[in-house]
Amino acid sequence: MSERPTPKTYAVRTFGCQMNEHDSERIAGLLEADGLERVATAEDADVIVLNTCCIRENADNKLYGTLGHLKSLKEQRPDLEIVVGGCLAQKDRELIRERAPHVDVVLGTHNVHRAAELLHEARAHGPIVEILTETVAGDETAFPSALPTRRELDWAAWVTIQIGCDNSCAFCIVPAVRGPEISRPFGELIDEVERLAADGVTEVTLLGQNVNSYGRDLAAALRAGELPADQAAVLAGARWADDLTTGTARRRPLFADLLRAVAAVDGIHRVRFTSPHPKDLLPETIEAMAQAEAVCAHLHLPLQSGSDAVLAAMHRGYTAERYLERLVAARAAIDDLAVTTDIIVGFPGETDEDFARTLDVVAAAEYDSAYTFIYSPRPGTEAAELTDRFVDPAVVGERYERLRVAVERSALARHRARIGRVEEVVVEGPSKRDPDITTGRTAQNKLVHFRASTPLRAGTYATVEVTDARAHHLQGELREVTRPARHRTRIAVVAG
Ligand code: 5AD
Ligand code: SF4
Repeated sequence: MSERPTPKTYAVRTFGCQMNEHDSERIAGLLEADGLERVATAEDADVIVLNTCCIRENADNKLYGTLGHLKSLKEQRPDLEIVVGGCLAQKDRELIRERAPHVDVVLGTHNVHRAAELLHEARAHGPIVEILTETVAGDETAFPSALPTRRELDWAAWVTIQIGCDNSCAFCIVPAVRGPEISRPFGELIDEVERLAADGVTEVTLLGQNVNSYGRDLAAALRAGELPADQAAVLAGARWADDLTTGTARRRPLFADLLRAVAAVDGIHRVRFTSPHPKDLLPETIEAMAQAEAVCAHLHLPLQSGSDAVLAAMHRGYTAERYLERLVAARAAIDDLAVTTDIIVGFPGETDEDFARTLDVVAAAEYDSAYTFIYSPRPGTEAAELTDRFVDPAVVGERYERLRVAVERSALARHRARIGRVEEVVVEGPSKRDPDITTGRTAQNKLVHFRASTPLRAGTYATVEVTDARAHHLQGELREVTRPARHRTRIAVVAG
């Protein structure tokens, strides 16, 4: 097969979670390192990357719908190259090319770093599907952050601290597509955050499926091998390595240690993380959140259900009571803590009684916001087999609506209580609806809309007095700029 003309532009479309958004930044970084320039729309792109998610069902529909549209684009422009990556690709593999033969490259969750190479191979030899069954531990390229990245925001960065998940929640496809948990070495993470800070980044979000178990595998690796002190320091941080040599080792670098170390990096003003698993939320993490000033007062603690029977069937490893105890402890320790959650409605076997317990927990937890999902059976997961216990969709729809109302009521009450307070925001830019309005985000992860007499650069920190509240955002008045943006302005290469 003859080589196609060299492509010049690319566009990436992401479906799914922050982990996927970050993988997309990585794919973009690799393509830019390979000489491609980003364009905003698929119509202008020589290479189109679809980075997929398979956590819930509509992701499949969205992908195959988008691929349907791209078919006619490719008929008009046969040189167009289409790449499908991410969780759905990992799950569907060859099926993607069977359903959409116009796709050039299919790559999975363990070989994101191969995006540019696979495109070259496909260009020379024809379509290619490369799905690896697992990530090679110790391989630098395993972690999205460890390679060139084209960040979406100049002042904020995602940092993947752990990939995969060792839990087995009955509804969840993640362990099947992302594999077992692997933590990124402590020393490497701190180096990366230092580099980001030097580049003007002031906010980092630590990403992992289950951040609280960060370091379990590192500890096992340390125990297994008699590592020299310098290697131990990279794996688990210098403090840990010292402990190791003096024999006072705690035998594991905790997520709390990582939080404190990242928060202490010069120039880092805000640290966020997602998501901790309620069963693994240690007092040390709460203490680190309370003490390290840069760690934002926001905890995303996925509840999934408020019914103990459903939680047990889901294999979540906690009861509603235990969950609420941890929440109370976190609120008591951390000043002005915002709490958000994920809740699934209609898990197989969920009764009216079970659902009533979920509403009870929502009332008790006083959430600031919640992502609510209708249960969607994922083939290959334990719960997808429970077909005889599936809940009537009409009942699920009605429960979903009641839950939405309860969550909005709680969010509005929490937000109204903030009226009159002066809060620090980081400017995100002009509001999408009205360019005269500036949008900022508080440490508690709330959007605030306010007017600024002169435009404020994204990444600027300012104080704003909260004047009004809605369920999904606040309104405010600008007080003063507290920290001008530090990053260099990126020169736009391509319009859009
Ligand atoms: N159906 C519905 N929601 C799901 N989630 C994960 N798997 C499913 C599923 N099969 C939700 C959970 C999780 C969030 C990321 O997505 O609430 O916390
Ligand atoms: Fe899925 Fe449960 Fe792992 Fe979260 S902790 S990724 S819900 S298996």
